[in-house]
Amino acid sequence: MSATTHKVLKQARKRALIDQETYLDWYRQSVKNPEKFWNKHGKRIDWFKPYSKVKNTSFDGKVSIKWFEDGQTNVAYNCIDRHLKKRGDQVAIIWEGDNPYDDKKITYNELYEQVCRLANVLKSHGVKKGDRVTIYMPMVPEAAYAMLACARIGAVHSIVFGGFSPDALAGRIVDCESDFVITADEGLRGGRKIPLKENTDTACEIAGRNGVKVRKVLVVRRTAGKIAWQEGRDLWYHSEIAKAKGECAPAKMKAEDPLFLLYTSGSTGKPKGVLHTTGGYLVYASMTHEYVFDYHPGDIYWCTADVGWVTGHSYIVYGPLANGATTLMFEGVPNYPSPARMWEVVDKHQVNIFYTAPTAIRALMGAGDDHVTGTSRKSLRLLGSVGEPINPEAWEWYYNVVGDKKCPIVDTWWQTETGGIMISPLPGAMDLKPGSATLPFFGVKPELVDAEGQVLEGEAAGNLCIADSWPGQMRTVYGDHQRFIDTYFSAYKGKYFTGDGCRRDADGYYWITGRVDDVLNVSGHRMGTAEVESALVSHDKVSEAAVVGYPHDVKGQGIYCYVTLMAGVEGSEDLKKELVKHVRQEIGPIAAPDKIQFSPGLPKTRSGKIMRRILRKIAEDDYAALGDTSTLADPGVVEELIENRQNKK
Ligand code: PRX
Repeated sequence: MSATTHKVLKQARKRALIDQETYLDWYRQSVKNPEKFWNKHGKRIDWFKPYSKVKNTSFDGKVSIKWFEDGQTNVAYNCIDRHLKKRGDQVAIIWEGDNPYDDKKITYNELYEQVCRLANVLKSHGVKKGDRVTIYMPMVPEAAYAMLACARIGAVHSIVFGGFSPDALAGRIVDCESDFVITADEGLRGGRKIPLKENTDTACEIAGRNGVKVRKVLVVRRTAGKIAWQEGRDLWYHSEIAKAKGECAPAKMKAEDPLFLLYTSGSTGKPKGVLHTTGGYLVYASMTHEYVFDYHPGDIYWCTADVGWVTGHSYIVYGPLANGATTLMFEGVPNYPSPARMWEVVDKHQVNIFYTAPTAIRALMGAGDDHVTGTSRKSLRLLGSVGEPINPEAWEWYYNVVGDKKCPIVDTWWQTETGGIMISPLPGAMDLKPGSATLPFFGVKPELVDAEGQVLEGEAAGNLCIADSWPGQMRTVYGDHQRFIDTYFSAYKGKYFTGDGCRRDADGYYWITGRVDDVLNVSGHRMGTAEVESALVSHDKVSEAAVVGYPHDVKGQGIYCYVTLMAGVEGSEDLKKELVKHVRQEIGPIAAPDKIQFSPGLPKTRSGKIMRRILRKIAEDDYAALGDTSTLADPGVVEELIENRQNKK
């Protein structure tokens, strides 16, 4: 991984909020005396009641994480009200529709009114502090209003990505016992309609059978497509809003009151409800947004994520709005109507800061430079990357072609669990190395640990842990604190284990190498191999399945499934198609298998454990390096698997 170092760009250094000296100085302070450091920076948000206690955290025993615990604040107040005097007429959200002729601008004053009205609608239908509200929405401004309206009244939102299936949606509704859902008639992406209300209807039915009755479904009209209607349960968003008052006092929330739940996949079991709370989360999201993106007042900022993922929470809505920024929200996809769309949007809205995922960069790189060079992109000042490792080739293309060598790239490493960016360059403070997330943010103490738990010093490769708490950290797994402890704090005592492998070079730069557990990262979407396996075995022709990832040029990782069929069932191309369809239905299109190999047997140890190491190697077509197979119950299985591998080079 020898890549050219790109020195800090002069123009980045000139306007940077944080230069190299300040970074080093603040970083030193932040890890030496976190109480003092965060006591100062906690004040970047407004508090109704100031905190006197800053940090009260323990990674041992029962694990307890509290920040600013005796303070009181409100996230919606911080994202809207406090800006009104100075920038009420400034645009808060630029919305760019799927169709390039569809757009709209929402000022902070308008945002205030919309959010207050919706907050009153929620209250009038019985939503109270602490209640869980499920949001299953396309990328329309109402999704942001919904988040902020919940925050305003102290309800806890749980956003489910619009690409998830009714089953996946139902599972999340049931897990957090959410009886209020906000959705739209249909979503619109790349000219295609997504039946969100129909999916919600099905999900409500499934949830009902599993003991959770959804009381109300609030429906935004997006496409005016035909939908079914359940009187008494379903409500039209627009008529409800029209009746509601445009003023709603923000609830006084304790710093540790829950703000939102977001379900994410792990290596085992069902997706977990990651719980984030109020004060620390907002301090961390807003501070990282300001410094990592070097946000200056007036900048136009665009993060291309979906609000269904954590990136959309922290860096489309909460971080930028807490900073009084103008944030762009995009309903569409990168290649519609053409692969020039992103850069056309940049020119149209004069975007200065652009934040996307490597998978999009690779896909657009494959579509050819002309789509980029045909646009101006003069407004761009900074580029960002998130969600998966970025290969140096894609990095250089992003830097040279998209950024015309004028824009630093911030490769930001973080997770749903971390709430905000953890390892990333600050654009005016660090030299860049393509493929490296560079150095930790203030207050973040990364450690590399070997399999025995030994902390590795200097140049090394190991498992990435974080040694101490930071304000944006998740607080628990909703309803299952033991699972929180087991998942993150049991592998290495007293440390948060990220699940990622990582290398540190001689300059102290961090290079994330990807997950070391059974979590896949497909186009930046995270899913457990176990989830895909359980979707496959729920098909009546499947007896057993093992799923692994393999390197994929565009997606980063592809999904490779070994499937053992029920006795007497013949494998066929049609059956493969049927299984792909089945997984799409069970989880959603993002989990669609790329390769299916019918395998009469799977390599197992004598105790019955599937040897995934072998399956991964075969999926990568790297079977010469299988290593020791002598512990297998039936070594003959391997030859058969190699013979029928689907990724022959
Ligand atoms: O493996 C890491 C990868 O994405 C995982 C977290 O996924 P999720 O919770 O869905 O959050 C994604 C958006 C923050 C991590 O464990 N990952 C994320 N960012 C990077 C990355 N891998 C390498 N480089 C990154 N910049």
